[in-house]
Amino acid sequence: REAKLWGGRFEEGVTDAVERFTESISYDWQLYKYDIMGSKAHASMLAGQGLITATDRDIILEGLDQIEKLIQEGKFEWRKDREDVHMNIEAALIERVGEPAKKLHTARSRNDQIVTDLRLWCRDAIDKILIRIKQFQVSLVILASKYVDLIVPGYTHLQRAQPVLLPHLLLSYVEQLERDAGRLVNCRERVNFCPLGACALAGTGLPIDRFQTAKDLKFTAPMKNSIDAVSDRDFVLEFLAANSIAAVHLSRIGEEWVLWASEEFGFLTPSDKVSTGSSIMPQKKNPDPMELVRGKSARVVGDLMTVLTLCKGLPQAYNRDLQEDKEPLFDSVKAVLGMLEVCTEFAQNISFNSKRIQSSLPTGYLDATTLADYLVKKGVPFRTSHEIVGRSVALCVYKQCQLAELELDDLKSVHPVFEGDVYEYLGVENAVNKFISFGSTGSEQVKKQLEDWRIQLGIS
Ligand code: ARG
Repeated sequence: REAKLWGGRFEEGVTDAVERFTESISYDWQLYKYDIMGSKAHASMLAGQGLITATDRDIILEGLDQIEKLIQEGKFEWRKDREDVHMNIEAALIERVGEPAKKLHTARSRNDQIVTDLRLWCRDAIDKILIRIKQFQVSLVILASKYVDLIVPGYTHLQRAQPVLLPHLLLSYVEQLERDAGRLVNCRERVNFCPLGACALAGTGLPIDRFQTAKDLKFTAPMKNSIDAVSDRDFVLEFLAANSIAAVHLSRIGEEWVLWASEEFGFLTPSDKVSTGSSIMPQKKNPDPMELVRGKSARVVGDLMTVLTLCKGLPQAYNRDLQEDKEPLFDSVKAVLGMLEVCTEFAQNISFNSKRIQSSLPTGYLDATTLADYLVKKGVPFRTSHEIVGRSVALCVYKQCQLAELELDDLKSVHPVFEGDVYEYLGVENAVNKFISFGSTGSEQVKKQLEDWRIQLGIS
């Protein structure tokens, strides 16, 4: 058995169970790129400060490049007995280039190393998610542009409420996604501070230059307190929280599209490319990708709960518990990237069934609130007009007809204030056209916002 890099004071090796239980290489190998990046910046800084020679630095940099290449080619052997990504790479470097590599860990601990790797990893992961969010937004705006005039029922309590333009609904998702992106951008600002050089927890007596490594790794600045630098995973929590909110948004879209694809709604049809079948029922075509978007949100929220619980009650500074932050973090990012990708493809591969939607619009008295507004314009106090329209609806229920089908005499029998111009307010088209407030579903508003989003997202 190979001696551990930390083995000096030990007389016996660890048991197999302890080795298996404590290793993290089976998943933290994914940090290799960032670990090597950090080591290179550290070695260059050590040379700049005269702590190692320029020759040693060059040997280390060259060795790290070779190791990175081997890893990328799948030729690197990850060893569980070397515990984690840091010691796997360091031990391999020592094997490869000998003595100079033994100087790399000068003024460094795995405690500052891991959190540096993790912050670099998060920075890139956030950037990847931001790209996917934008792609989904683009696909939604393009979809909305195909149905500029399509009116759909708007729901509250999943009961028919008021008519809305389909683009208005689709743009509501785009707005939510924009805030999801904003949360990630904010989080990224706080991720981007450099813990390297905090060492185990207290810093070092050696003359290192933390500003140099921070700059080299494109961090905003070094973290100011070495204890804080190695202790906290609040940046992971923020990232997971931002992911959770985004995932919850996506799950709602998933649910809506699953509902709309049902026979009962029949409002949209996903193409075969984004549907799957049943192993027993030959006729089935299911919207599984969207069900899984709904489902995967559970693990994203769970990942946040895992790390919140992990950090709760930990004393300063580094504790090995923190090793458990990685799997939930990786899981959350993988899930969110997959969810966004499949939502984008779904949006690119669905069609809305305009005929079916239109033929369903006359039911549900979607124009009732607009009728109440009509009465307000005639000087009736809103509470009274609500009552009058309520009674008009009751009359429709009795006569089994729509508001627009009531004769003027019928309406006048409910209240004399109704006049012939009332029919300009009835029916879903009329009702939608009456919306004028900022942010409303009125066609002027929606067209303007659709245009604004096209410009903002760079859609020509
Ligand atoms: N694998 C550890 C982690 O993920 C790296 C730091 C270990 N430090 C230590 N002193 N054991 O947190």
